[in-house]
Amino acid sequence: MPNITATELFGNWVDLGKDEGMEKGHNSSVEFMISKALERLSGKFTCIDLGCGNGWTVRKIAKLSNCSESSGVDGSNRMISKAKQLDPDGEYYHAKLPNWTPPNPVNLIHSMEFIYYLEDPINFLKDLHNNWLTKGGCLILGLDHYIENESSLSWPESLGLKLATFSSEVWKDGLRDAGFSDVASYQVGETENWAGTLVLIGTKT
Ligand SMILES: C[S@@+](CC[C@H](N)C(=O)[O-])C[C@H]1O[C@@H](n2cnc3c(N)ncnc32)[C@H](O)[C@@H]1O
Repeated sequence: MPNITATELFGNWVDLGKDEGMEKGHNSSVEFMISKALERLSGKFTCIDLGCGNGWTVRKIAKLSNCSESSGVDGSNRMISKAKQLDPDGEYYHAKLPNWTPPNPVNLIHSMEFIYYLEDPINFLKDLHNNWLTKGGCLILGLDHYIENESSLSWPESLGLKLATFSSEVWKDGLRDAGFSDVASYQVGETENWAGTLVLIGTKT
């Protein structure tokens, strides 16, 4: 059994400056994810970033001309404190998922390297579809830990955490079963020993 929770672990990472390391490491995948999401959205949109860490993606999305509201939620108090320190006017919620819903449904849910830390992420997809998104809204997820990415399979042991380890097909079926349509997946940034970030996208029709 893990003796630390994911939010405690990542809270400790703030003190080590590793939240900024994640920004550098995840940036190219997030840029791809944003471009794919924008293809599915028309007009002004609102967005929430799940497991937003220090909020760097929230601020990146806020700068897009079509974005009317960008917010983030994270279960680590230290991550959220840092986000608010960097951006005092930003909307950052400190909440442990899945036991929270945003005050208003949004047009876009973005999440990079968060969802597999949940105990039952597949079930949470239904909640995201039914209660978090507006009709026509879009969910986009980025994951580096999944079965086809073999070099990520040691992470539960090295991090000392229980992670939800699924194949890309299981994730895609999960999105479809949750009610999403036009479900698609991509692998971004593949190299010889790295299968890339698995990007999953679906629309609420
Ligand atoms: C790998 S970090 C990714 C952070 C950010 N998305 C990025 O790319 O830099 C995972 C984040 O998910 C948060 N997290 C993990 N489990 C959570 C939960 N149950 N509820 C809310 N946040 C959680 C952690 O606190 C951490 O900030």
